[in-house]
Amino acid sequence: PFYATAARQPQGGVQTAPQRYCVFMTFDLSTSVTTELQVLLARWSAAIAQLQAGKTVGSVEPAHGDGVGADTGEALDLGPASLTVTVGLGPGVFDERFGLADKRPAALADVPRLPSDNLQAGLTGGDLSLQACADDPQVAYHAVRDLARMARGTATVRWTVLGFGRASAGPHQSTPRNLMGFKDGTRNITTDEDHDRFVWVDEPGDGAAWMTGGTYQVVRKIRMNIEIWDADVVSDQQRVFGRTKIEGAPLSGGTEHTTPDFAATGTDGDTKIDATSHIALAAHEANGGVKILRRPYNYTDGLNEYGQLDAGLLFLAYMNDPEHFTQLQRKLGASDRLNEYISHIGSAVFAIPPAPRKGSYIGEQLF
Ligand code: HEM
Repeated sequence: PFYATAARQPQGGVQTAPQRYCVFMTFDLSTSVTTELQVLLARWSAAIAQLQAGKTVGSVEPAHGDGVGADTGEALDLGPASLTVTVGLGPGVFDERFGLADKRPAALADVPRLPSDNLQAGLTGGDLSLQACADDPQVAYHAVRDLARMARGTATVRWTVLGFGRASAGPHQSTPRNLMGFKDGTRNITTDEDHDRFVWVDEPGDGAAWMTGGTYQVVRKIRMNIEIWDADVVSDQQRVFGRTKIEGAPLSGGTEHTTPDFAATGTDGDTKIDATSHIALAAHEANGGVKILRRPYNYTDGLNEYGQLDAGLLFLAYMNDPEHFTQLQRKLGASDRLNEYISHIGSAVFAIPPAPRKGSYIGEQLF
């Protein structure tokens, strides 16, 4: 693929087959000194290389017994567990503080307010993001925890979500289920060709050459009204998605990977896949051919203030223009049958630069 040259590789955690667990965290920069931002990105880059190799970020037991450990130690003996840590730069990196305004890619702007939004201030935005995915939850947690410690004095934690189970499939992976009990990720982007076309930024025409080979991350914390969903009859649940529950087959017939036939009608003359079902509205056939890479995780926050299950989908998606998400969500927010059972409570967007060149650090081309 064009993005992967000797000089430039993508960061992990995007095209990487989804690992089982994810910890996501965003940060606000508390400094306005450009070199401090550079030092943080450099320290994170070095630490991420260590962590992804299953190593610590420094000593757990300092030589002097009265010293503080550089690494907190809880991932010792757990190995790399397929860890990837993906670093994102939010729109705030390009405000007046760091003198980088002219490097801001035109595509990087806050997702506009959408009619279906129910956003909570404490679950939106951020100047930096970390997405740590691993096959061991403690390895993912340890990575974010130790990187957050490193940021002290430069950035403060803004919001975080713990994803306890993958809800998307990469090539050669079986399709997992989201908390609504349906297979999620059946018609996701899987081929290199589609990644090149829809995920990776080709030579951007807007002057942000440093983003070539990068991508954009759109994050939404989507709460599910689990108890209401669980009381719904299965035939209606299937109508909501346009797919069967166990097999995940389109209601137009066939098996899980059969291409849905959105025009097929039943004996009553209605389309077999309801026109306001989630897949009828979201499919690329209904959106000018545009696809996004979905890489979501199931999350839970325990119980809400009413003692109900508080859980949902940590929707993480990658695309070469965040506008593709906005257009899709504007449409879903207006008429998706799923809206009765979900609420978008968190939102943010980040630029994902390519991985650092050898001996360099993430985002180095920016400065
Ligand atoms: C498809 C669940 C939110 C975009 C699907 C499918 C399920 C699902 C079960 C069918 C299987 C598949 O092809 O993956 C959910 C749930 C959501 C949610 C539970 C929220 C809690 C969203 C959002 C977007 C989105 C916010 C984008 C704005 C898509 C797309 C497809 C899809 C593009 C593929 C449609 C197709 O080509 O057939 N989703 N989804 N989903 N979803 Fe979602």
